[in-house]
Amino acid sequence: MCGIVGYIGMQPAVPVLMAGLKSLEYRGYDSAGVSVCVSDEIYTVKAKGDLSHLEAKLKETALPEATLGIGHTRWATHGAPSDVNSHPHMGRKGIVALVHNGIIENYLELKAELMEKGCTFQSETDTEIVAQLFEYLYDGDMVGTLRKVLQRVHGAYALGIICKDHPDQLLAVRKDSPLLVGLGKEENFIASDIPALLSYTRDYYLLNDNEIVLLKRDGVSIFDLDGNPIEKEVFHVSWDASVAEKEGYDYFMMKEIMEQPRALQKTISPRILEGNINFEGIGLTEEMIASLRRIHIVACGSAWHAGIVGRYVLEKLTRIPVEVDIASEFRYRDPIFGENELCIVISQSGETADTLAALRLAKQAGVRILSIVNVVGSSIARESDDVIYTWAGPEIAVATTKGYTTQLSVLYMIALYFAKAKGLLRQEEEKMYLEELKLLPEKTSQVLHACNSGSIEALAKQLCKREDFFIIGRGIDYAAAMESSLKLKEISYIHSEAYAAGELKHGTISLIEEGTPVIAIATQSTLLEKLVSNIKEVKARGAYVIAITEEGNSFVADVADEVIYIPKATDLFTASYNVLPMQIFAYHVAVARGCNVDKPRNLAKSVTVE
Ligand code: G6P
Repeated sequence: MCGIVGYIGMQPAVPVLMAGLKSLEYRGYDSAGVSVCVSDEIYTVKAKGDLSHLEAKLKETALPEATLGIGHTRWATHGAPSDVNSHPHMGRKGIVALVHNGIIENYLELKAELMEKGCTFQSETDTEIVAQLFEYLYDGDMVGTLRKVLQRVHGAYALGIICKDHPDQLLAVRKDSPLLVGLGKEENFIASDIPALLSYTRDYYLLNDNEIVLLKRDGVSIFDLDGNPIEKEVFHVSWDASVAEKEGYDYFMMKEIMEQPRALQKTISPRILEGNINFEGIGLTEEMIASLRRIHIVACGSAWHAGIVGRYVLEKLTRIPVEVDIASEFRYRDPIFGENELCIVISQSGETADTLAALRLAKQAGVRILSIVNVVGSSIARESDDVIYTWAGPEIAVATTKGYTTQLSVLYMIALYFAKAKGLLRQEEEKMYLEELKLLPEKTSQVLHACNSGSIEALAKQLCKREDFFIIGRGIDYAAAMESSLKLKEISYIHSEAYAAGELKHGTISLIEEGTPVIAIATQSTLLEKLVSNIKEVKARGAYVIAITEEGNSFVADVADEVIYIPKATDLFTASYNVLPMQIFAYHVAVARGCNVDKPRNLAKSVTVE
């Protein structure tokens, strides 16, 4: 949610900033801007729209060559997308320019106070207040002024600041919004995420909340809020820059869909050792697991959908009651915590603001936190008692695919691990589940190749003009229907509703008319007959039914108009397969409708505001 970059070094800053923003565009793309500092002046160019608009404007208004600058790509919160609301924001005398990711919660109060002192504001943003306040409190010392500013602002922020009096300094700070410091040779960087650094350096510092960083060309100093220096450990990026490239695919989303077998392999195989699930370094003991009375799962978006699948699997295998909550609801519903409980927090980015707040709430109540996270060193990973990483690699497309399926695989492993610790898994059962887990990457690859043979694309072209879809299922299939429906909604802008197949007749079936597309996910062996009845109910009302079922269930073809087959699997793991045709279907529908698949309207990948 908003991408920040900053550069200080020997190279011309604008190309570095623009390349960084390009790789952060997944964080927001409704407007963008850059400021550079040269010869004691700050020059700024900003443009509404995605980065191509800023690029075009920079061609018209070439900025002077500078080696210090900041850049921003925005996902609007306060104030509509517009040139003037874009970052960087300046103080009224033009002494500082500032970029911000997050929300300043007391901005109205600060604005009123500054207006009384004669400040006037150009934009509707909360960010401009910080720039104005900085200038108002500015005493010639960057770090000292920032410390005073931070005493006044409340909320979440990652800030990058330049000042015309200090063309040799780039200042930054973070609290509850991500920010990294890239360490180069005679150059240093700030960025919201690693891809922005990869072309220049692989060494970086992870900042903790309330750490202030002063970057110069030849060094980086870090301070706490009292101005005391802090020593930091240098981290090293282990993945290659090419993972953040499209590698011949039209969109990152399809590349990431096709990467799922490899991501699953990397997530699963190091954790199955000598016929056992092995979570290295995890502090949860067998005794703790055996005494668990309840598990809370909290997450947002697709990670929440993974949690719903996780509940079915965990309850079935471990008999521990599981509650799954949307993080933004959980944090405000005064949840009841008890002894011997565990909170499983799921997040691809590890930075989602509501999920992080839910984690903190549970932790404060004394509940142990086990997180499933993709981004190493992210806030959620760092604040958890135990972390199990999904090794999906960077996910760029806003709509998650490999992030979600690797989360499912970790949830299966947790369920098996807990069931074994509780003595609930018979040897032959364990063997069967582990075999299934090992086969997951290979079978995923088979499904993806079958789905890409053209039939799903043809179906997508046939149905791409429809404006309403229903996706139905029972049990785990219903959980998978929710994720499938979200995929279709977020990238193709088609309204679709996931429904528990047995519930449809209690009202929603009134919406089914001649030709309404209904996708029926029918993979739960014990519920198959009931699901077939539900298909007949909608068929009788004119629905056009596409069924997703397992090979061998040929009788489903008798009741559906189209059938997509997935390989046979244990009922507990089917969500991993039946979501795949839906990812590919949603992708082709979005392409056929001319949508921007990787950057759907109004969305951002990493939601670091409430
Ligand atoms: C955003 C993304 C979703 C994602 C959700 C949670 O809304 O667009 O794809 O599922 O955030 O993100 P997280 O990083 O916590 O998994």
